[in-house]
Amino acid sequence: MNAETGNCMCEQVDEVLDRYDRDAGLLVSILQDVQEVYRYLPREALEKVSEALNVPMAQVYAVATFFKAFSLEPRGKQVFQVCMGTACHVRGAQLILDKLERDLELAPGTTSEDLDYTLESVNCVGACALGPVVVVNDEVKGHIKLDKVDGLVEKARKCLSELNQ
Ligand code: FES
Repeated sequence: MNAETGNCMCEQVDEVLDRYDRDAGLLVSILQDVQEVYRYLPREALEKVSEALNVPMAQVYAVATFFKAFSLEPRGKQVFQVCMGTACHVRGAQLILDKLERDLELAPGTTSEDLDYTLESVNCVGACALGPVVVVNDEVKGHIKLDKVDGLVEKARKCLSELNQ
């Protein structure tokens, strides 16, 4: 069962598979939608996709690990990604990452036990002119200075408390 929706994982994966007519050629899109449901790709879901599409598990797994956008580990409801590419690094990205690490009490590359937050350091996200850049839930936030980090964290906390109401 999925704790958030109360639905069985099979039902939700089935819904995604039906949306794409169980077309094995659309495996990437199917995995994208499955990840949208769970915020990561649970092994059970990958097995279901493999079986339904008649695609070997090794092939499904290869696709799931090839694309960086896919995660095989549970991720938080609020995901902070600090760009550590060169352009952001020279503009103080490490200080931003250090502050988020302290504020969220999370080491980079980890997710909080309650699955509220994930903190990651990532390579260039292609918005160098806006550096330093932090991506929050896939939304690029540019020109992030240390004094803007509190606002980002505050906004994430607000979102979470609204989600939990
Ligand atoms: S180096 Fe950060 S967006 Fe390119």
